[in-house]
Amino acid sequence: MTRNDLCWCGSGKKYKKCHLAFDERLNAIKLDIFKGQVRPSKKIINNEEEIEEIRQSGTINDGALNTVADMIRPGIDTLTLNDAAHEYIVQHGGIPACLDYEGYPKSICISINEVVCHGIPSKKTILKEGDIVNVDITTIFHGYYADASRMFMIGEVSPAAEHLVRIAKECMELGIEAVRPWHFLGDIGAAVEAHAHKHGYSVVTQLGGHGVGKSFHEEPFVPHVGEVDTGMLLVPGMVLTVEPMINAGKYKVVTDKNDGWTVTTKDKSWSAQWEKTILVTETGTEIMSS
Ligand code: MF3
Ligand code: CO
Ligand code: CO
Repeated sequence: MTRNDLCWCGSGKKYKKCHLAFDERLNAIKLDIFKGQVRPSKKIINNEEEIEEIRQSGTINDGALNTVADMIRPGIDTLTLNDAAHEYIVQHGGIPACLDYEGYPKSICISINEVVCHGIPSKKTILKEGDIVNVDITTIFHGYYADASRMFMIGEVSPAAEHLVRIAKECMELGIEAVRPWHFLGDIGAAVEAHAHKHGYSVVTQLGGHGVGKSFHEEPFVPHVGEVDTGMLLVPGMVLTVEPMINAGKYKVVTDKNDGWTVTTKDKSWSAQWEKTILVTETGTEIMSS
């Protein structure tokens, strides 16, 4: 690609006015292969137009989460929440990404207490006082994805459950604060893991965050454990999720054999998760969905 060619990012601008300086910086960085350091591939770098689509997808996704937030209470069944989120997304021109994703049967995931993630909404699942509930929603808008989840405490919950929910949120926030352009992916997991362990909790390793935007789950896999300065280089234009799953007990998880989806802790201890979709910017991060 020469200076006057159109940039590889699809912006329609000349390379010299677009990603030339970016590429020079990217290629000048010496990678330490012993730390697993790698450069991101160009396909996961989004241009301004793509970022704007993901931003709009995120706005719809946030609205769907707000809709659930307004309705969630003791005695409500989780299918009613699923249907309300579905309706909100469709009304705003989006598509619920989970529906039919690899055969997933509903539009959102609702995961209660010892359920870590991918809980399937059901008319038979009634929320009750004391439950801690993760609601995870992903929207597709004009083909672009945004993915976020929040915890809800149903009525009054035990101090231990409340603490788990709070620390899991802090883990996500610290993971996001660890994201800096031209630094490494492993910084996220290092920050999350340190905070969880400080409070006696474990971090799920079998599932993690992910690149998101042009598809639901793209490169890189985002571990919530790890070491600083390891893994993929983070650069402006990358969009990813930070979504630590924090267990009160041990880190191991199992998937329900009957439905093929519901992930619970192996030891049946309670688990909490928060998720945001973030954009890596020149100066730090921008939240795309939360
Ligand atoms: N939203 C989840 C995530 O954070 C993925 C759910 S996939 C589904 O990556 F099929 F279970 F919906
Ligand atoms: Co999600
Ligand atoms: Co996700």
